[in-house]
Amino acid sequence: MYTVYVIDTIGDAHVLEFKKFEYRNLMELLVNKLHDEIGDCKGRGLCGTCHIRVHSSNTEMQFFEGLENNILKKQLAYYPDSRLACQILLDEHIDTMKIEIIGGD
Ligand code: FES
Repeated sequence: MYTVYVIDTIGDAHVLEFKKFEYRNLMELLVNKLHDEIGDCKGRGLCGTCHIRVHSSNTEMQFFEGLENNILKKQLAYYPDSRLACQILLDEHIDTMKIEIIGGD
């Protein structure tokens, strides 16, 4: 089991556990466990509603140039640590990561 620490869109804190590749990506874990209304494009990296900030990570996560970067820069609240949750795989690289769900603007 792996763990991620999450601040949801109303500011509540959660500890979510997951198995490797239990869902296709981090966005699906957040939707299924928190019922947050994100993920409008079902993980295709197009809508920006799964916008998160990564406050800490035990590894240097790769930032996807191109599509993910372009979608994020269209968000009004864009930060250097912004990512799209649907572009992050559920594996050991995100174990103990702390994130905040920003959502779409
Ligand atoms: S679910 Fe639409 S960009 Fe991630």
